[in-house]
Amino acid sequence: MTATLTLIRPDDWHVHLRDGEGLRAVVADTARQFARAIVMPNLKPPVTSVAQAAAYRERILSALPAGSSFTPLMTLYLTEATTPGEIELASRSGWIHAVKYYPAGATTHSEAGARDLSHCREALGAMEALGVPLLIHGEVTDPDVDIFDRERVFIERHLIPLVQRYPRLKVVLEHITTASAVKFVLTAEDNVAATVTPHHLLYNRNALFQGGVRPHYYCLPVLKREEHRQALVRAVTSGNPKFFLGTDSAPHARSTKESACGCAGIYSAHAAIELYAEVFESAGALDRLEGFASHFGADFYGLPRNTARITLQRESWTVPAEHPFGQDTLVPLRAGEAVAWKLQAPI
Ligand code: DOR
Ligand code: ZN
Repeated sequence: MTATLTLIRPDDWHVHLRDGEGLRAVVADTARQFARAIVMPNLKPPVTSVAQAAAYRERILSALPAGSSFTPLMTLYLTEATTPGEIELASRSGWIHAVKYYPAGATTHSEAGARDLSHCREALGAMEALGVPLLIHGEVTDPDVDIFDRERVFIERHLIPLVQRYPRLKVVLEHITTASAVKFVLTAEDNVAATVTPHHLLYNRNALFQGGVRPHYYCLPVLKREEHRQALVRAVTSGNPKFFLGTDSAPHARSTKESACGCAGIYSAHAAIELYAEVFESAGALDRLEGFASHFGADFYGLPRNTARITLQRESWTVPAEHPFGQDTLVPLRAGEAVAWKLQAPI
């Protein structure tokens, strides 16, 4: 059995770093694992302007541990008021790399999101012309659609028309969860890709109800049936560059998850690359982890691949029951349980 695994340093193409005390509590986990990360803009208020993104970027850089070489890749939050001028400013900045679309009401802090992409035609046209990627939370918000079908229905109703209307727009369908999403991405042109989280690769919807309601497995899009998990594993281990790493690590205070109406989000930044290594190892595809984790995302975004390396050791360790998180705590994925791989400290 392989004992160590050396990879080009990976990047996380989808993370929530939060702000203030929360940011200071979590950013070191991401920075220890990843060289760069696409930082999601769903703060309160959302990061809708280049000026707000600049200030948020400074707060992230100041919260990093001394000596960290981590680079945050910033995003703007798409609203119905986003102008082509703001897109142009973002594109010229050199440090804003994408725009995120949250359908209004789809998830945490999505209230400011566009109600319909057809209300954002000018901004989308500018993004297509300037090569700014649109990152999509792909779920309909229609309460009549079953929660387990919301991704598939979004693809049918909104995504297929979108890629027809903007054939050169770079699109990342974020945190895909279904065989329908895999199929959509596979049949789309090369300017359409997807991120896949560790939790959607490791767990199916049974995890939400094992012996009782398990709020720490609740995220959006929600975990799906086993057949969908298997389709995701096949996609990421196939070596197809359209699928790359995006943890969607989304920390919430313990008290807000263990609640009568708990928040959506799974925290995985503490052990992300190790959890992905488990997935690839179980599929007999450890040799394909590096492409997924360290090459394909950078290639899609038109950024240079990293050159530094990390090493993982085949060594079981137990994830702490909780992490400090401001005045509260945070329950990480696999809390109190074993992870089979361990990231070695850089030499
Ligand atoms: O589970 C989720 N948590 N899904 C999202 O789309 C947002 C995220 C968050 O920000 O907490
Ligand atoms: Zn997210």
